[in-house]
Amino acid sequence: MSVSNPMFGEQPFKIGLFSANCSGGLAVTTVPEQWAAEWDEIVELTCLAEDGGLEFILPVAKWKGYGGESDILGRSYETFTHGAALAALTTKMTIFVTVHVPLVHPTYAAKSLATIDHISRGRVGLNMVCGWNQDEFDLFGVAVDPDRRYEQGLEWYRLLMKLYDGGPEFSWNGDFYSGQHMHTNPLPIQRPRPITMSAGVSPQSQEFAAVTSDFLFTAVAALKNAPSLIGDMKSYAGKFERDIGVYTMSHVVCRETRKEAEEYFYFFAEECADRDALSYYEAKKGVKMANADRGGSVSPTNRLPGQVYTGSYPGAYPLVGAPDDVAREIIHMHELGLDGMTIAFVNYLDELPFFLEAVLPRLEVAGIRLPVGKIP
Ligand SMILES: Cc1cc2nc3c(=O)[nH]c(=O)nc-3n(C[C@H](O)[C@H](O)[C@H](O)COP(=O)(O)O)c2cc1C
Repeated sequence: MSVSNPMFGEQPFKIGLFSANCSGGLAVTTVPEQWAAEWDEIVELTCLAEDGGLEFILPVAKWKGYGGESDILGRSYETFTHGAALAALTTKMTIFVTVHVPLVHPTYAAKSLATIDHISRGRVGLNMVCGWNQDEFDLFGVAVDPDRRYEQGLEWYRLLMKLYDGGPEFSWNGDFYSGQHMHTNPLPIQRPRPITMSAGVSPQSQEFAAVTSDFLFTAVAALKNAPSLIGDMKSYAGKFERDIGVYTMSHVVCRETRKEAEEYFYFFAEECADRDALSYYEAKKGVKMANADRGGSVSPTNRLPGQVYTGSYPGAYPLVGAPDDVAREIIHMHELGLDGMTIAFVNYLDELPFFLEAVLPRLEVAGIRLPVGKIP
């Protein structure tokens, strides 16, 4: 069967949905309209995104929320099973699964991923995350050594690749994984493996992506930093004679007018920010989000591009404004060398239609998106 995964398609700047499998999406807020992650709504959203021409859907792997009133990410659909179901309900999009490498043995991942690749006829994508929150791993009784996360990730990937070679049974006695009589059947439709992505921001995550991934999914909080990040990533990958696409994540607030969009952003992400949930994130990450960029003197009337509020998800670039404003910033991302991005909304189903109707045509006029019917 000939396979063409949309992530390798002609679309110049690729766009996908992120975190719609989780309650709260990427908004650390208490507003009542926040995303509830109901299955029927996820199905409706995915079909809307596919019909509207988006390339992919990318779920977050999550086992525990951040507490606070919202308990953002507290309810989440497991990503292999979520992917298998969406694969059966769609025909064009790439369906990513996000895998915590310390929690899923490669033998299990190889079979699950191949299963979804067959269901989707070659449209599955693997997003590898090495994880950061020991609280989540505690649910499994697994301790992750933060200093060896990427070493473990590399061994995980190498073992997966060996299984996907499809050769005779073998044994594996590594530092992190072991097994006897190892093989997998069926092999994935995409050969030698499904497309891969990995998510992270550190230099170690870039080195890992250089060896394992077709795409690095990262957080470009300040767009001015994008060219150097992309340059670093391309040079890491170049050492292995590979090319790699760089994607970032955004949160979209698009309304008829800039004023409306700015006011809503301020309302949900500053006035109704879930500060306890953000504190949990900061405590677990061992970071303090810079307050100069997070609220403080910022208000809906003087927010500068890229500035965020307390309840903005860390690392998600805020695309806020009228359709012209949002399109302008996306075009700028493309000019800076990014290959694509993810989008998220406070309420995906309420807000995606306007993005598709009003922003995508502007990106088509700018030549960074092909109209749906024009994609070969
Ligand atoms: C864009 C992006 C998406 C991520 N998605 C997940 C996820 O779904 N689940 C998870 O546990 N960690 C996720 N992470 C966290 C990474 O796996 C990683 O643990 C984190 O970025 C810290 O590692 P680093 O300092 O090497 O970047 C994500 C990170 C980024 C930047």
